[in-house]
Amino acid sequence: MFEPKGIITIDGPSGAGKSTISRGLAAKLHFTYLDTGAMYRAVGLALERQGIDLADTESLTQCLAAIELTLSPNGDEDVRVALNGEDVSQAIRTPEMGMVASRVSAHPLVREKLTALQRQLGEEGGIVAEGRDMGTVVFPKAFCKFFLNASAEERARRRQKQLAEKGQSVDYQEILDQISKRDYDDSMREHAPLKPAADAIIVDSSSMNPQAVIEYMLACIANPAP
Ligand code: DC
Repeated sequence: MFEPKGIITIDGPSGAGKSTISRGLAAKLHFTYLDTGAMYRAVGLALERQGIDLADTESLTQCLAAIELTLSPNGDEDVRVALNGEDVSQAIRTPEMGMVASRVSAHPLVREKLTALQRQLGEEGGIVAEGRDMGTVVFPKAFCKFFLNASAEERARRRQKQLAEKGQSVDYQEILDQISKRDYDDSMREHAPLKPAADAIIVDSSSMNPQAVIEYMLACIANPAP
């Protein structure tokens, strides 16, 4: 049964359309959209700026303790992210920061901090949470879980178009290589790897437009499997 204060999770690899779909689904349901990739990106930025060596547990712990993140919805656009009060929304949305986020996200201390914050943000329910481990680790009791996928080639094509719309011109092969590396690293890591939850509904969006994916998900939410 549909839970007005429930949690919906959407996991999947980079470029599968999770942000557009999660934002659209949240708007339809009057839920809050939680972009957890943005959180890993912001933490990656903070650690990189301070030149923190992930092997130096003491410096990492200190740096993480001093990080304060605030996420605010931004209509049809990407959520706005403040890192200790500074708006880093643009700085975190580059392919390079995606790679940095993927690297730092493999560290258990980084995951511990963000998992706690994500659960806190989800406490009141009524959220669509997007990421890699939402259905498996952060919100295992979510009432509806999706795993959104698309072929690597299709995801690279979409990502290139998205970046072009923001005025960033990046070579297709370079994007495809980055996507493949991130898929591999995010899936093979020890802590909270990218994988579908056992009870997730797998959606392949390779030949579906965002509207069709949202309609399909709404139908699944309205008529969950027994
Ligand atoms: O969704 P994104 O591209 O903004 O995510 C950037 C990286 O952050 C991704 O490659 C892996 C990491 N991430 C994660 O480990 N767990 C999440 N729930 C979300 C993102």
